[in-house]
Amino acid sequence: MTEAKKTPLLDELEKGPWPSFVKEMKRAAANSPSAQDLLGQLELSYVDKKAHWKHGGLVGVMGYGGGVIGRYSDVPEQFPNVEMFHTIRLNQPSGWYYTTKALRQVCDVWEKYGSGLTNLHGSTGDMVLLGTQTDKIQTIFDEVSNFEEHPFDLGGSGSNLRTPSCCAGPARCEFAMIDTLDLCHDLTNEFQDYLHRPMWPYKCKIKISGCPNDCVASIARSDISIQGTWRDDIKIDQEAVRQYVAEGFDIEGLVIAKCPTKCMSWDGNELTIDNANCTRCMHCINKMCKALRPGDDRGATILIGGKAPILQGAMMGWVIIPFMKLEPPYEELKEFLEKVWEWWDENGKTRERIGELILRLGMRNFLRAVDLEPIPQMVQAPRANPFFFWWPEEVVQD
Ligand code: HEM
Ligand code: SF4
Ligand code: SF4
Repeated sequence: MTEAKKTPLLDELEKGPWPSFVKEMKRAAANSPSAQDLLGQLELSYVDKKAHWKHGGLVGVMGYGGGVIGRYSDVPEQFPNVEMFHTIRLNQPSGWYYTTKALRQVCDVWEKYGSGLTNLHGSTGDMVLLGTQTDKIQTIFDEVSNFEEHPFDLGGSGSNLRTPSCCAGPARCEFAMIDTLDLCHDLTNEFQDYLHRPMWPYKCKIKISGCPNDCVASIARSDISIQGTWRDDIKIDQEAVRQYVAEGFDIEGLVIAKCPTKCMSWDGNELTIDNANCTRCMHCINKMCKALRPGDDRGATILIGGKAPILQGAMMGWVIIPFMKLEPPYEELKEFLEKVWEWWDENGKTRERIGELILRLGMRNFLRAVDLEPIPQMVQAPRANPFFFWWPEEVVQD
């Protein structure tokens, strides 16, 4: 093991009330030369105010084109134990529910072949194993994928389907209108090939929330955002509503006045909702969860296009299918996804996200390709300029 280097700047970050990552790294460093050297290199980065990783890195396991992010130190003479410091993405279980057994197995393997450092979890959702050498990757993969109980596969990376993720869902949330956990698991299995072997113009992410509260932030962080919703009436327990009011809850100020469509009224005894004008924003249900519940006719809204700024600017997903029933085996959804991917694969430029392709070629081309009719719910407002294009067959010529 390299001699323990002094880390005065990092030591500052052991102070204060929040759990310190420096403390965690030091604990790992007691048994791990690479965690030790990582501390050293990080201290150097704090001094220099710049990263000390080389550009890029291409490593992986046999049969897959993604799942491992290669990384090399640019100061290996000083920190030989992080000369290679690759990251392995393990596909997390839906909703991040673990048994201790599942976690202990991974820890045992990771202590043997890796730095002992992890990220629970990566932003996309994967369990991230931080730091190992090229010659260990295949062994780690072979071991974690061969656990008798709770084996793990790799997650995604590269121009492919990334690891789907979902909210806690019906396992412990009364708002869940679809089985987010089952759907996430099902899609992950169904599209293994797209996930492990990059074949697309760029990355594509799927995230699934059980309701519009969107606890996995699918609208902002996934190309395909699936959010549970309902289309019948909100269920009202009037007695429970009166109970809220009797306990001093300001129903007028906190619920009625805050409803975005002003479709609710309270006469002092009964709560009324004009459901035709409710946009299912969840506010009233969030506020009075003992009295109000989503309806029984449940499904999901599908949004498309969410992405970060590069290249054409950040986008949030926009509605493409206002309501789709989602029950196993989720055929309608899978067919829709295949059509989206087919069109994108055919037309997308290198490193062009789905949202950008739609921006470039237009919704009319996209909708035609995926067999959807344009409907008012797809736009916030009609276009304000008159530069319409017409399909040739739409123009009647005398
Ligand atoms: C604020 C500035 C401008 C406005 C509001 C404007 C507006 C317009 C409009 C309404 C049209 C008719 C489009 C159609 O019906 O197809 C048009 C066409 C055109 N504009 Fe402009 N324009 C502007 C600046 C310019 C400039 C600076 C140039 C060239 C130096 C230019 C060149 C053209 C050309 C060549 C067309 C005909 C294109 C075609 O028919 O294919 N415009 N413009
Ligand atoms: S998104 Fe909705 S269903 Fe999922 S955990 Fe959050 S509140 Fe519950
Ligand atoms: S869900 Fe939102 S829009 Fe619908 S009634 Fe409640 S507050 Fe109003």
